[in-house]
Amino acid sequence: MDIVILGAGNVGRALAGAWAKQGHNVMLAVRDSNRRDFEDLEDEGVRLINAAGAGRHGEVVVLALPWAAVPAALKDAGSLKGRIVVDATNPLTPEMSLAVGHTDSAAETIARLAPGAHVIKAFNTTGAHNMADSTYPGGQLVMPVAGDDAGAKETVMKLAADLGFEPVDVGALSMSRYLEPLAVLWIKLATAQKLGTGIGFALLRR
Ligand SMILES: NC(=O)c1ccc[n+]([C@@H]2O[C@H](COP(=O)([O-])OP(=O)(O)OC[C@H]3O[C@@H](n4cnc5c(N)ncnc54)[C@H](OP(=O)(O)O)[C@@H]3O)[C@@H](O)[C@H]2O)c1
Repeated sequence: MDIVILGAGNVGRALAGAWAKQGHNVMLAVRDSNRRDFEDLEDEGVRLINAAGAGRHGEVVVLALPWAAVPAALKDAGSLKGRIVVDATNPLTPEMSLAVGHTDSAAETIARLAPGAHVIKAFNTTGAHNMADSTYPGGQLVMPVAGDDAGAKETVMKLAADLGFEPVDVGALSMSRYLEPLAVLWIKLATAQKLGTGIGFALLRR
């Protein structure tokens, strides 16, 4: 699958490397494509492309950007009409609280900013290290996935399964109002509660 990732930080790099290893055609969209600090990923087959107009290259476009950068980056990427847009962002304030919530979410804001795109919320509730390597001795990490388009959601659930997660359909895109706070819980456990980044959520059944 052709996947464009906007944002080449912790999340963008982790997802790019992990999907490339699974045989996907991954393009990492950067503002300066002359950068030379991506050799490890390029060795794995990830291609660097220019962020300007990047949206036209992928069936799937992943947003791995700081929340504040999203409006400008979407404008720069061009039309995403008909594309599956995976929103991995969290609308964090500098105090690690949420800038949006309860009656709205980052994902719903993005759906308004990208008309015609099939926006799916995923990959926001766990740390980038877990995206690079999701294996845990105690079982499979869960990947909650929210969205309004059933086909697009199924595609993203498969992409999560490719990385070893147990994808779980949590319902409509508006369920992002609960997934974004879940991300803050993960961050607080990892940092304020000092559990570290080697933790993740799982869903148990009986
Ligand atoms: N870190 C995690 O474990 C984690 C886990 C789940 C979700 N998230 C969420 O995922 C998002 C990304 O987090 P991160 O930790 O990967 O952030 P990060 O390491 O700060 O990386 C952000 C990337 O976005 C790029 N960027 C900024 N503005 C841009 C623009 N206008 N166009 C294109 N690229 C632009 C930056 O490029 P430059 O290198 O050029 O500055 C940088 O590569 C955030 O919303 C975060 O809340 C993070």
